[in-house]
Amino acid sequence: MNNVDYKKYFELLLSASKLINASFSLNQALEDIIKAATLSLSAEAASLLFVNQRTQTLFFKAASGNVADALKDQSINLGEGIVGWVAKERKSLIVHDAKSDPRHKSDIDKDTGFSTRSIIASPVEYQGEVLGTLEVLNPIDKPYFDENDLILLEALASQVAIVIRHCTSYAKLNQQNIELKKVINLEHKIIGNSTVIQNVLQRIAKIAPFDVTVLINGESGTGKELVARALHDNSPRSKKPFIAINCTALPENLIESELFGHEKGAFTGAIASRKGKFETASGGTLFLDEIGDMGMSMQAKILRVLETNIYERVGSDQPMQANVRIIAATNKNLKQLVDEQKFREDLYYRLNEMQIELPPLKERKSDIMLLVNHFLNIFSASFHKEVTGISKEVKDILMNYDWPGNIRELKNVIKAAVVLCDTDTLEECDLPEEIRTVNVEVFSLTGETGSLDLLEKKYIAKILKENNWKKSKTAKILNISRPTLDAKIKQYGILIQK
Ligand SMILES: Nc1ncnc2c1ncn2[C@@H]1O[C@H](COP(=O)(O)OP(=O)(O)OP(=O)(O)O)[C@@H](O)[C@H]1O
Ligand SMILES: [Mg+2]
Repeated sequence: MNNVDYKKYFELLLSASKLINASFSLNQALEDIIKAATLSLSAEAASLLFVNQRTQTLFFKAASGNVADALKDQSINLGEGIVGWVAKERKSLIVHDAKSDPRHKSDIDKDTGFSTRSIIASPVEYQGEVLGTLEVLNPIDKPYFDENDLILLEALASQVAIVIRHCTSYAKLNQQNIELKKVINLEHKIIGNSTVIQNVLQRIAKIAPFDVTVLINGESGTGKELVARALHDNSPRSKKPFIAINCTALPENLIESELFGHEKGAFTGAIASRKGKFETASGGTLFLDEIGDMGMSMQAKILRVLETNIYERVGSDQPMQANVRIIAATNKNLKQLVDEQKFREDLYYRLNEMQIELPPLKERKSDIMLLVNHFLNIFSASFHKEVTGISKEVKDILMNYDWPGNIRELKNVIKAAVVLCDTDTLEECDLPEEIRTVNVEVFSLTGETGSLDLLEKKYIAKILKENNWKKSKTAKILNISRPTLDAKIKQYGILIQK
């Protein structure tokens, strides 16, 4: 390269990086870079084409020159024309006279009225993946481009590749971030229109701002942790951590060091000192889940912290100041445990300054459809599917089921159904077997509403079930042939359970 080329080289790279820094959008940055390349190489035109891997074509992403606008709708197959060849072969190219090069595709010239003479083109590659082709056409002050021009173009192409990749990864991450935030917000929303849930919400709003302990009671999966989070989120402690600890999951001696932390060498295996949950939650809320499973000696230690706000790390006698709000939850009847002398009465009253009772889902059936739609939204979004509704049959099944696992069970059923669903509507076959089986059991003619088909389906399922799913026996009772029964089983999607 001679001195003039060096100057051109650095000027172009410098202006490209300035443009990249100043630009707010990828499209604008690319348009500006193409213009800068056209000027620096004293050319009539330049363009950047992107590869569409799905259709195996290239399309114009940015272009300069007097026919730039006409290029926007053009596309070229990968491997076709000079740009297609460069993208496919992943090799740079100088063409002195396009008209005599068999690779040149003259269609675009014909369409746009441009007369291509000399070309330099370079693949735009990032970590082994070809993203497109960068080309510059017709030097103004000489008959054709030379090697130095090509070196300059190649350097620019590698810059362009980095810009494209970084911008698209950034845009993708940004989008994912927006979607995740939506899902997280949804995840922590308490859904329900039933009077009981409305009362719970009102109670949360009243209790949350005050530093009182709260005991949340309810069967498994009724939303105890969700309520605890809502209490925290609506309290003055909301900017500080919410820390949950499950008292069932850990043996007594481990719970103590989990909660209070320990000093190095406090017990075998304590190779370093460690903060406890009281310390990590400092300023925030500590949620003691399944408090009914906590052993007696630990109960005494918790009571002491609640009364004095003082605790020590295991293996230390240095007093530490506790600054947490305690929320506890249980699916057991704590009062009964107190009566049976399995739970300290003084701790019970200390935890129970306020109480929130969460009723099982079967006692708030009017919330079921709201919850179903809520979970459909969450899982359609997180699995990138568009499941927007449920069939009448599915609704009947969900409304008739008893939900022993409460909302957690409903949530898991909808999650699995969204995964299995092939259309935009959940169908019976997307539901797990145990829930559908119950549907067969609820068959009764009294009060039955719905289509004749639904009735036929349920009747066939009932007879099948009563006859241990034996098809020939069922066909005989129904007075239809075996093939007819098979066809109906298939048509209605009846699941044969053996
Ligand atoms: N009213 C509600 N609205 C929306 N989602 C809910 C509701 N209640 C519970 N959930 C969801 O159901 C699941 C179970 O709730 P959570 O973990 O709070 O129940 P839990 O009572 O703590 O259960 P366990 O006793 O099994 O620990 C969670 O994913 C929660 O987000
Ligand atoms: Mg829980």
